[in-house]
Order: sequence, then C-alpha cells, then structure tokens
Amino acid sequence: MSQEQSTPRACALVVLAAGQGSRMQSDLPKVLHPIGGAPLVAHAMRAGFALEPSRIVVVTGHGAEQVEAAVGTYQDAAICVRQTEQLGTGHAVLQAKDALAGFEGDVIVLYGDTPFISEDTLLAMQAARASHDVIVLGFEAADPGRYGRLLMQGDALERIIEAKDATPEELAITLCNSGLLVADAQVLFSLLSEVGNENAAGEYYLTDVPELARARGLTASAVRCPEAETLGINTRAELAAAEQLFQTTKRAEMLDNGVTMTAPDTVYFAYDTYIGRDTVVEPFVVFGPEATVESGAVIRAFSHIEGAHVSSGAIIGPYARLRPGAELDNNVRIGNFVEVKAAHLGEGAKVNHLSYIGDAEIGAGANIGAGTITCNYDGVLKHKTTIGPRAFIGSNTMLVAPVSVGADALTASGSVITQDVPAEALAIARGTQENKPGLAAKLRARLLALKDKKKGS
Ligand code: UD1
Ligand code: MG
Repeated sequence: MSQEQSTPRACALVVLAAGQGSRMQSDLPKVLHPIGGAPLVAHAMRAGFALEPSRIVVVTGHGAEQVEAAVGTYQDAAICVRQTEQLGTGHAVLQAKDALAGFEGDVIVLYGDTPFISEDTLLAMQAARASHDVIVLGFEAADPGRYGRLLMQGDALERIIEAKDATPEELAITLCNSGLLVADAQVLFSLLSEVGNENAAGEYYLTDVPELARARGLTASAVRCPEAETLGINTRAELAAAEQLFQTTKRAEMLDNGVTMTAPDTVYFAYDTYIGRDTVVEPFVVFGPEATVESGAVIRAFSHIEGAHVSSGAIIGPYARLRPGAELDNNVRIGNFVEVKAAHLGEGAKVNHLSYIGDAEIGAGANIGAGTITCNYDGVLKHKTTIGPRAFIGSNTMLVAPVSVGADALTASGSVITQDVPAEALAIARGTQENKPGLAAKLRARLLALKDKKKGS
C-alpha cells in the first residue's frame, strides 16, 4: 500500500554511530576522525539537514561519551541514545524508538561513518517515499565485495541479501546497499521488532526490513546514487582518501563561487570555510574551521587561517597566521610572520612584519611596527591591549598588557610599554643612548692585541 503525497512528510534522522571501527587502529571512536576539520559524524548529520528534520537521534556505543560531546558541539538539538552492545544495524535503529516517541513522519537512517551523501540524494529518497513504503539507497559498486546486494524485481526491491548470506548467483549482483533507508517511523519500528538474528553474522539486520515490509503487503524500492557518495570510512587509508575527495570537491566549489586560486590543489579548506567572490587565495594556504573571508580580499601564500574573519580588501600574508577570534575589518594588512589571536583590527590597520597581536583591540588606521608584541600572558592570566585609531607603534615595542595606547599616540621603537599612553602622546620606554667618541676603535685595537698574544703563546 503506497502513499500519495505532494509535500514531504515530517522527517527524523537516525544516525548510526555505535560501531568501534577496529580497522582504524585508533583509540578515538571512528566517527570522531575528522574530514575537513569536522568529525565524520558531523558530516553525516549535516547531510540530513537538507530534509529539515524535526528530530535528530544519534545512536552511540563505542566511545559514547566522546561521541556525545562531539554531537552536542555540532548539533545541540540532537538526542543521543546508547546501544550498549552492538548487535547489528537493525538493533541499533531500534534504540532510537523511545527518543522518537510521539513523532509522526518518516525516519531516515544515516551512517555516522558515511560523510558524503548529498542533499540531492536524500531529497530523491524523500520524493520516492511518496510512492513506496520503504526506500533504500543503492549504488552500482565497482567492487561489490562485502556489501549487501539489492534484489530488484523491476522497480520493486524484493529483499536485501548480506554478502555473508548470499549465494554465488546473488553475489554476482552489483547493485549494492549503501545502508541508508527511509520509512514511516511507526512502520519501521514495527518491522524492526520482527527482525531476528538467524543469519551468518548472528546480527539483527536493518536490511531485513524491505522483505518484512513486502510480507505485510507494503512496497519497497531503491533510489540509486553515485558510489562516491556512499564512501564509508573503515581505515586510515580510506580516511585519507576521503579527505582528498573532500578537498577536491571544496576547491571546485570555491572556484565555482568566484574565488581565484592559482594552485587550488595546494589550498586546504575546512568543512565550513566561507570565501567571498573575487578573493584571491595564493598557493599553500590552509583554512582551519570557522574561517570566513569576505569578497575582494587577498590571502597570500603559506598563510594559516582558523576561527578568523577577514573583511573586504584585506591583504593577509604571505606566511601569516590568523587564529580564533581574529576579526579584521576592511583593508587591514597583515604581513609575513604575523600572528593574530582574539583581536579586532579596525579598518585599514597594518601589522606588516614579525608581530604577535593577541587579546587586543586595534583602532582603524593604526600602524603596528615590525616586531611588536602584545605581552598578553603573565603565566596565569591573559590581559588586553587597546590601541587607538591612527596610533603608531614603533618597531619592537613590547606592550605589556593590560595597557592602552590612545588615538594618534606614538611609541618609540624598542619601548617596553607598561603604562597607558594618552592620546597624541609620545611614549619612550627604553635605555637612553650614550655615545663614547673613539671608544670602538680603542676597544677593537685592544682585542686584536689580545688575540696576537694568544697566538704567540
Ligand atoms: C551494512 C549493511 C550492508 C551495506 C553496508 C554498507 C546491514 C546488516 N548491512 O553492512 O548491507 O552494504 O552496511 O556500508 O545493515 N552500527 C551500529 N550498531 C551496530 C552495528 C552497526 O551503530 O550494532 C553502525 C556502524 O557504526 C556503522 C553502520 O552502523 O556506522 C554500519 O555498520 P557496519 O557494521 O559497518 O555494517 P556492514 O557490515 O558494513
Ligand atoms: Mg561497514
């Protein structure tokens, strides 16, 4: 009995993330290994957001506490439920039943270790649900190996047979099960209660659902997607390959969106990197999580940018490091070997060489000389440095925070500034220079004489 519907039904995600991932050879739960700076499980959840789920349930088991903490970071609305023993994918989905009490609509089952499912594929599954009770996501496998095989009869999915339980004829089928499945919540939990574990693996298979559905007079079908989308991570090599695929996709997306890159293959993005059009990203730039760059900026070679916001017209690098909390207004200049952390730089401010700016507020048009350091840390606490608009900080100034330098003020090179500098004042805080006429020549003569004496002895 199939349902006709024009608008998609309410939807809940169930993300399976209880498995150990023993082939990763890792103490970290598999779903916490990152791609593009975010754990696999975050990618898996994000794929499902296109369906605007009204509930998200993540099934945890191995490393549950760590996985739950990560899930909370990326999706605080997600409910985590524990599967204390990993008795199979069907058993895993059943653990979400209580968390979905009172929910009416479709459940879509996702795998926490399968990060590349596209929104379009999920939407296609959702659309196909309009004419079938159970929809499974399949793909043509280049090497079907251990995947479950989809036994189709025309448009109808008769059943899924696990490789371990398949006959040689069934193993010849190349249409494989990705693991993703959509069905009405009530129907799914009711069918899962009938799933047994009399099979080669002794597990409760989610893949028994289509056949059980048909036995009830319900219909099942499959939606197909490219194999690349179903890529699951089981080993470090697969993780590395997935990272590469992620980067390739992200680079193409950036180019499509109007970002200029002369050597895109050398630029690395995070899952959430945003870059505006006409921004230029030179070779060997690395973006960590939470970096946004507005349009028309230039990120020069070998820069590292993470948790930072760069506004239009800014020029960053080469060899710059922007750390979390760096907030740069329009036309800011950050030059080579400059590190900025938790600091706001007003429009047109310049820090061009060899500096550390941390926990600071820098006014518009201020010029920070080479080698300037905000000494923000006393070994216990962090303190703030405030520099007014158009202030000129001489080279090699040490700003011992908490300290402020007023608007249009100037610090002399080499100063160690420990007291606030009023607006428009000049601060000098360094030893006074004394010149001793002729003393250099005398000293040199004495040293050379000493050297001769040593040779002679
Ligand atoms: C499963 C499918 C198979 C499909 C393949 C695609 C079943 C029975 N088989 O096999 O048809 O081709 O995925 O990759 O569903 N998990 C739990 N709890 C458990 C068991 C698994 O949370 O008790 C999670 C795992 O962490 C993983 C996912 O479910 O994210 C799939 O489990 P896995 O053991 O990899 O299933 P496969 O044997 O690969
Ligand atoms: Mg698997």
